[in-house]
Amino acid sequence: MCGIFAYLNYLTPKSRQEVLDLLVTGLKRLEYRGYDSTGVAIDSPDNENIVMVKRTGKVKVLEEAIQEHFSGGEYSKPVLTHVGIAHTRWATHGVPCERNSHPHRSDDGNGFVVVHNGIITNYNDVKTFLAKRGYEFESDTDTEVFAKLVHHLWKTHPTYSFRELVEQAILQVEGAFAIAVKSKYFPGECVASRRSSPLLVGIKTKTRLATDHIPILYGKDEKKLSPDQVLPRSESTSEFMPLEEKEVEYFFASDASAVIEHTNRVIYLEDDDVAAVRDGTLSIHRLKKSLDDPHAREITTLKMEIQQIMKGNYDYFMQKEIFEQPDSVVNTMRGRVRFDGNAIVLGGIKDYIPEIKRCRRLMLIGCGTSYHSAVATRQLLEELTELPVMVELASDFLDRNTPIFRDDVCFFISQSGETADTLMALRYCKQRGALIVGITNTVGSSICRESHCGVHINAGPEIGVASTKAYTSQFISLVMFALVMSEDRLSLQQRRLEILQALSNLADQIRAVLQLDSKVQELAKDLYQHKSLLIMGRGYNFATCLEGALKVKELTYMHSEGIMAGELKHGPLALVDDSMPVLMIVLRDPVYVKCMNALQQVTSRKGCPIIICEEGDEETKAFSSRHLEIPRTVDCLQGILTVIPMQLLSYHIAVLRGCDVDCPRNLAKSVTVE
Ligand code: AGP
Repeated sequence: MCGIFAYLNYLTPKSRQEVLDLLVTGLKRLEYRGYDSTGVAIDSPDNENIVMVKRTGKVKVLEEAIQEHFSGGEYSKPVLTHVGIAHTRWATHGVPCERNSHPHRSDDGNGFVVVHNGIITNYNDVKTFLAKRGYEFESDTDTEVFAKLVHHLWKTHPTYSFRELVEQAILQVEGAFAIAVKSKYFPGECVASRRSSPLLVGIKTKTRLATDHIPILYGKDEKKLSPDQVLPRSESTSEFMPLEEKEVEYFFASDASAVIEHTNRVIYLEDDDVAAVRDGTLSIHRLKKSLDDPHAREITTLKMEIQQIMKGNYDYFMQKEIFEQPDSVVNTMRGRVRFDGNAIVLGGIKDYIPEIKRCRRLMLIGCGTSYHSAVATRQLLEELTELPVMVELASDFLDRNTPIFRDDVCFFISQSGETADTLMALRYCKQRGALIVGITNTVGSSICRESHCGVHINAGPEIGVASTKAYTSQFISLVMFALVMSEDRLSLQQRRLEILQALSNLADQIRAVLQLDSKVQELAKDLYQHKSLLIMGRGYNFATCLEGALKVKELTYMHSEGIMAGELKHGPLALVDDSMPVLMIVLRDPVYVKCMNALQQVTSRKGCPIIICEEGDEETKAFSSRHLEIPRTVDCLQGILTVIPMQLLSYHIAVLRGCDVDCPRNLAKSVTVE
């Protein structure tokens, strides 16, 4: 989804050219989120105006435009204090074009300029209100109303501070958003806010602050606008968090990957926080006061390393992330699984285990790949917890107004921790009193913060839009949870030992599967010109079929379908002939005989499937000349080894088809709109 990056240097000399470089680099770090146009705004050399550059397409195109128009001369002279804002837009309201790209402006004179993520749902009402007051709109976006609303408030309330103007404007808009605003009337100041869309503030100073817990002071916002001046609004209370620094730089960003090369000290903003920098001082104001408001905003030290968000020697982030899996699965287990003592401790949920054991049922909720990790582990969770386990797509779960009870335990699985559908489902369940467990990869994300407890999957930053290492780490996190739940079940000890043993071999076995890369590449050459690929399997490997098909679709734009082999004769078999590409997963597990039946049904219809089977399984291999052999592991972990060839296959097909591997068309890494 869209990305915000804003930079403010206070008493830290930087030329406009350097500021533009910083903004462009920030946008490059956010590219992985998915976008279709870009833009920046900085002060004009005479400080009288704001200049904007916007381009459709990649950040590279914007960078070239900036180099062409804004290098040398006045742009290379240092300025002591300056604010620049930048944006990558993923079109929601209006097609991708320069006119609809951000920043959006309040008026011809660029008095206020705004970058925005999310959707302002009542933008039509606000637009009508402003149109009646003479405002003319130049884009199809919802964002533009915000810039113009701030301008209207500035005209009608000339004594208001910049922060107050933005705060009043925020009170009039509905929806989910993150926003950063710059103004030529308030030079050196920046105001940002969020509601259900992520935003953090990075702080870079020469000396560390004495404390990382900064108290929040309470105060009452006295200035209220009358209803005829703006749309009806709610009361507001403010809190103040002063953070005074000299020679300071601030970074406002949608996620940590954009700031990590500058600073590892960040504050994750909460919903309805308004962060304002004035005279180098950051203050955080609360729009609404609630009972569970914290008394302090914590400055978090990011653990992320810059290398983690660089491609290194790989051609694509996705490729790097596939090959990182021997390490990422170990990182997921690190400090949690003790192979010598066969013990597992999940620090983030250990205090809740007795409550979870008493629950009515487990609900696993997510979208896309994260949902598939729930499908992959459901059977094991049922076996080891002996509880009913429901697996739900967040969007469908919400559509159905699914009944939820106080004694339900609801797991929300999300790599980004920001997926709007998953977050909405979390809030729905929380309101109904269920225990909320977050399974996320992003520390400080909304799902992380709004859960009662959780497991951080520790896969490291995942930049490729197609999720790979996060899937295998989500999978392992849920397996670890199942093992924790069965710790005191005597009858399950043998099974637990078998799984623990398999977990200890997993990294080496993943390495062995990755050795298949060149063989998979050859198979990709056979497949890449086809229109479709059917992927069949059942039992523990059905999730691999779904996940494999999702990878093929999103990366290669080919049709692909994950088919439950048991359903073959209920319809999909009609698709099979000698020209239809089919891939089948047939492993020596409890459903082997059934899978072999399916394989025979396919070959009897002249199908020539690619088979994923176990190393040395001559009987199964005999059914086809094309096969990929994977090492044997315990049935419930097979899905980790079988999904890797699917990740590699979709990657190679995408490369052969000339697709943008890391940023597939129309997709976003973090889907922050419903
Ligand atoms: C995975 O390859 C997809 N890009 C997508 O399905 C993703 O898993 C889904 O949008 C959920 O994202 P989340 O894990 O960040 O919540």
